[in-house]
Amino acid sequence: MSSSCAVQLGLKRADTDLTGPPFAEPAILSAMNEQGQITQVSQWPERREFLKQQLSEYVYGPYPSGVKAHQIGHKLIDENYANGAGRLEEYTIQIGENGPRFHVGLVLPQSAGVETPAPLIVAQSFCQNSAALHHDGLTAPEAGGVCGGGGIMASIIKLIFGEYIEGPPIEAVLKRGYAYATIYSSEIAADNAETAHIGIEKIASQTSPENAPVGVISAWAAGYGWALDVLDQDMRMDTARTAAWGHSRQGKAALWGAAHDDRIEAIIAHQSGTGGATLTKSLNGESVKKITEEYPHWFNDAYASYSKRESDIPIDQHALIALVAPRPVLLGNSWNDVWSDPNGAFRAAQGADPAYKLLGVKGLAQSGMKDADITKGELAFQISKGHHGIREYDWEDFLTFLDAWFFPNES
Ligand code: GCU
Repeated sequence: MSSSCAVQLGLKRADTDLTGPPFAEPAILSAMNEQGQITQVSQWPERREFLKQQLSEYVYGPYPSGVKAHQIGHKLIDENYANGAGRLEEYTIQIGENGPRFHVGLVLPQSAGVETPAPLIVAQSFCQNSAALHHDGLTAPEAGGVCGGGGIMASIIKLIFGEYIEGPPIEAVLKRGYAYATIYSSEIAADNAETAHIGIEKIASQTSPENAPVGVISAWAAGYGWALDVLDQDMRMDTARTAAWGHSRQGKAALWGAAHDDRIEAIIAHQSGTGGATLTKSLNGESVKKITEEYPHWFNDAYASYSKRESDIPIDQHALIALVAPRPVLLGNSWNDVWSDPNGAFRAAQGADPAYKLLGVKGLAQSGMKDADITKGELAFQISKGHHGIREYDWEDFLTFLDAWFFPNES
């Protein structure tokens, strides 16, 4: 087994706790002129735009702003889904006039209605919707999917990456009162270095040259908002309680999407790692060289140019977290997922925290990586005992975190 494979499988353990000073450079509240630190909320929008522009320039490339999506299909798939706990429906969505089309597998608790709208979790997955929601009635992607199928391989994958790597424990999600929408990211732009350009170019054709995406993370990031263009019209869901959820590569997209779209009220970015919640400059876990060689289609070319010279990059990922302030965000991690660098994510949270405090909320209220109370502040750090992957206890934490903000009187 190669050493990088060993770390990906979590055969090493992350630093047990944070030592040394919090990460603070470049300071998130540095003024853009000679006047020193930003101290007024009124100064934040300009600083925020600057940080967004820097992340576009050095990491992700442009985010496709200004492109709207609309519904071109909606059907009921199963009104007794999950042993009757919910209804399974499907929306077909068109990006712009001629951009890619994608499907949303939507599960609603039976209690959801116009008078009793359900809070919504919008998820993206590397699995096609039929595998994420375990139902063959959902439309298969044109290029086929990569998950499901049962057999020994599927069992091995679940053993390594957790029982919920393909999709959530949907009955538990429904029972807690949430609607759940899932998108197969590759329908928007393929997660494939050779074919990603097809979706990217189609999206680019719908927007102005300065907003034309070059990497799939920007395209997927906008996918959350494109789903909301349609789902927000459906009154059975509560638009004021909408969370974006993503694991790993989709966690990177969830954060970048929320940075641009304030219809997203809360974010769960699980094990988002390099190019997500973890500091590029931390030098633990996945390097810029590794990620940009393996996944050249995720970012812009500038990011790859910081390979082996991470310390030169003018912006770091604490800025990405600061861009979602003051909204609740849960950064999910596991002690043995060294590849995703939990320590770097905690320091990024510390670096982002001044933006939360400036905006008058608690922000990062946990005392360190081991403080397990994820409901203390809007900027929460979860660390579980496992490896890279999604397990029952992770979902328990995700729902506990969302409950604290979306059902405050009940938790
Ligand atoms: C790879 C990649 C990570 C990514 C992960 C995932 O391990 O190196 O950056 O987050 O896949 O999406 O599971």
